[in-house]
Amino acid sequence: MSAVVVEPNPVQYQQPTLPQAEPCVVVIFGATGDLTKRKLMPALCRLLNQGCLESVRILGVGRNPMTEDAFQTLVREALKDSKKLEQLDEQQWSKFAGRLHYLAGELDDQNTYRQVMTRLEELAHEGASRNRLFYLATPPSLFSLIVKQLGESGLANEDEQWSRIVIEKPFGHDLESAKALNAEVLQVFKESQVYRIDHYLGKETVQNILVFRFGNSMFEPIWNRNYVDYVEITAAETVGVGSRAGYYEDAGALRDMVANHLLQLVTLTAMEPPVVFDADNVREEKVQVLRSIRRLKPEQIAERTVRAQYGPGEIDGEKVKGYKEDEGVKADSQTETYTAIEFQISNWRWSGVPFYVRTGKSLGRHLTEIAVHLKRTPQALFARTPDEEVDPNVIVLRLQPNEGIMVSFGAKRPGFEMQTSTVHMDFCYKSGFGVESPDAYEMLLLDVMQGDATLFIRSDEVEAQWRLITPIEEAWANQREPKVTTYEAGSDGPVEADELPARNGHRWRRLAETSDGCD
Ligand code: BG6
Repeated sequence: MSAVVVEPNPVQYQQPTLPQAEPCVVVIFGATGDLTKRKLMPALCRLLNQGCLESVRILGVGRNPMTEDAFQTLVREALKDSKKLEQLDEQQWSKFAGRLHYLAGELDDQNTYRQVMTRLEELAHEGASRNRLFYLATPPSLFSLIVKQLGESGLANEDEQWSRIVIEKPFGHDLESAKALNAEVLQVFKESQVYRIDHYLGKETVQNILVFRFGNSMFEPIWNRNYVDYVEITAAETVGVGSRAGYYEDAGALRDMVANHLLQLVTLTAMEPPVVFDADNVREEKVQVLRSIRRLKPEQIAERTVRAQYGPGEIDGEKVKGYKEDEGVKADSQTETYTAIEFQISNWRWSGVPFYVRTGKSLGRHLTEIAVHLKRTPQALFARTPDEEVDPNVIVLRLQPNEGIMVSFGAKRPGFEMQTSTVHMDFCYKSGFGVESPDAYEMLLLDVMQGDATLFIRSDEVEAQWRLITPIEEAWANQREPKVTTYEAGSDGPVEADELPARNGHRWRRLAETSDGCD
């Protein structure tokens, strides 16, 4: 992640020139898969267009036998579907196509890795760099096999050149499998060569949490148990599982979203300031937060967790099927498409402050936000109405869509009486800076190519995440029927979720409640 000082007047803000990636060949395993087409190729193409990849080539490795020309045609088609590349002209495309290479092979066959080695040699003779970046964009079941083969073939070795590996989520399925995968990866690669990706960390506004907290003396003094009543973190999606039931049936919302993205948001919201802003120090502070979160005991699970599945409903005026009617979902599926959990962080700063997280598919609104609810003033001097006190202040970090920050506070209503209303100060990223943020994958790919691991998950971090999630999965598995409740597609989620914060006198923000100040 590059640090950039922005001009004081945001209207005059110009996007700084992005830095150069170190010369390398990006070897993508799973080159014809969905992730490569939807995310990796568009991100690489845009980085090239912005002038960041002058000495980078791309070698796709996939099972489908095809010529390099056919591979380039496939990528061209994929780029046409990318909204951010609508303006791609022929000159830009041919520059990108000239760097695209392809090699077909089975990933469990040693011979494939020998061919990769030979192809990398050939490219080096043509002037490409000997540095290698391996990207595992395959199903997770192939991760350990590929890592092992990379080790045996000598591709992981670093002599004059560097060799790095990017591993997609999910990194393991539970604590044991994550530990096993870490052990296998670390037998072949050093931790400094490994980049475990969580695309939420590549989102500009997620990184902005740290700038907001540690770059402003206004907020940090109140960011603790003395002033904060509770924190709620929401990742609500309007989309259902679509064609991903094969994966999702085994994962569910807890593994798919909480075990990684939402816990990352908790760590960034709760962490202590790092001594220096670098990979080791930032990740150390994040791990400390994960270690401080109390693991839920089996008897606490029913009270502090909620899980549910969407039934039929309506979203944006369109009728939506229930989860069980989606293709590939078992008729008696118990997979949760919604979950809400109360976490408690046992440390000096946060003791006694609940962190509620919730995420769900097929909800009424697409929204990711962190809402920090401050405590009431010690004395209720003013009233909203004759019998209602002033609302406590809320700071909302809105991550998507329409990224921004909102602070709500009480103001006196015009008139003779001393009555108040809640008003908002709203900052919108888009209108504030007038430029579009780079896509998360652009940010993260460039970071790997620069050797900056700050926004990637360390081995102990991934294990600390699973240490919190696995006991919940286990307790859920042992719960008696009915295991999941149902919520209507297009709603705010199941009614049971309201009881979670209500136990402590708190409440979720309604999904429709958020204004975004971007008009
Ligand atoms: C992915 C999950 O990691 O994140 C998906 O597997 C989810 O189920 C997606 O839809 C959400 O990402 P974003 O960037 O759209 O919030």
